Amino acid sequence: MTEMATGKVTIRKCEALEEMQTCFALQKEVWKFSDADLVPVRMFVVAAKIGGQVIGAFVRKNAEGNDERDGEKELISFALAIPGMRNGHCYLHSHMLAVRQQYRNGGLGRRMKLHQREDALARGFELMEWTFDPLEIKNAYLNIEKLGAIARRYNVNQYGITSSPLQGYLPSDRLVAEWWMKSKRVEAVLAGAPRAKFECRARIDVPAEIYEWKAAAATRAQALAVQEGNRERFTRAFAEGLSVLGYERDGRGNGRFLLGEWDESWRY
Ligand SMILES: CC(C)(COP(=O)(O)OP(=O)(O)OC[C@H]1O[C@@H](n2cnc3c(N)ncnc32)[C@H](O)[C@@H]1OP(=O)(O)O)[C@@H](O)C(=O)NCCC(=O)NCCS
Repeated sequence: MTEMATGKVTIRKCEALEEMQTCFALQKEVWKFSDADLVPVRMFVVAAKIGGQVIGAFVRKNAEGNDERDGEKELISFALAIPGMRNGHCYLHSHMLAVRQQYRNGGLGRRMKLHQREDALARGFELMEWTFDPLEIKNAYLNIEKLGAIARRYNVNQYGITSSPLQGYLPSDRLVAEWWMKSKRVEAVLAGAPRAKFECRARIDVPAEIYEWKAAAATRAQALAVQEGNRERFTRAFAEGLSVLGYERDGRGNGRFLLGEWDESWRY
């Protein structure tokens, strides 16, 4: 498998140096990091060479959809992953996934993850991990509910306070998503089956207002209070052996993590 095209979007590996440079530029546009926080082009090149992934989604620049061999293509999404190793097993760590603002909420993020999965499975990986901000309701919903990832590790202020406004200048707390890509559980989720049932033993809420609270200095303390409260709840729940297995969002846009007991056999 090398290429996936639907409509005018083509998803494929990035190989040429210019494509790595374009990924770098999109990173800058999406996260608005200061230069010191940016992943450099050289790291994209290395990731592609050492068994990681640099995957891009391209559309034809011309709105009329001229033949792509003639027209320039626009990169609208990229995923960057590097190989990792834990307890003697290799896995992929997906460090970044970005979709250009105007192409969001149309399923492209999910398709990018599916492409990453297909490539990873073809090369023998069973696990992909990535970290995500537990205050990001949208990302949590995508990761847990639409992809079937789970989480049972919490990293406090993983990168320090970064220069990206997406982070709202809060400590960069992260949940670690584990995506057991080959498992029947994940296959079922991806096929659109209802989530496997589990006994819900704890719930952790994120209010819909979190985005506006993070965005303004005047309300940032409210966002910080949610973060600190949830940090404690996650840490306690994980210490008790619970894992995030489900995620709900209501009509108002509030998010809710659902925690239960993870069964190791669900990795397969
Ligand atoms: C995270 C990101 C890659 C997702 O890309 P995307 O193309 O918008 O994702 P999808 O459309 O496949 O899926 C998003 C889902 O979340 C839903 N969603 C959108 N806004 C939401 C919100 N505020 N709360 C809950 N869910 C939301 C979408 O409706 C969609 O679900 P649906 O298909 O059931 O409607 C993109 O938003 C992005 O680039 N964000 C900035 C960078 C980032 O945070 N990257 C991830 C961490 S490295």
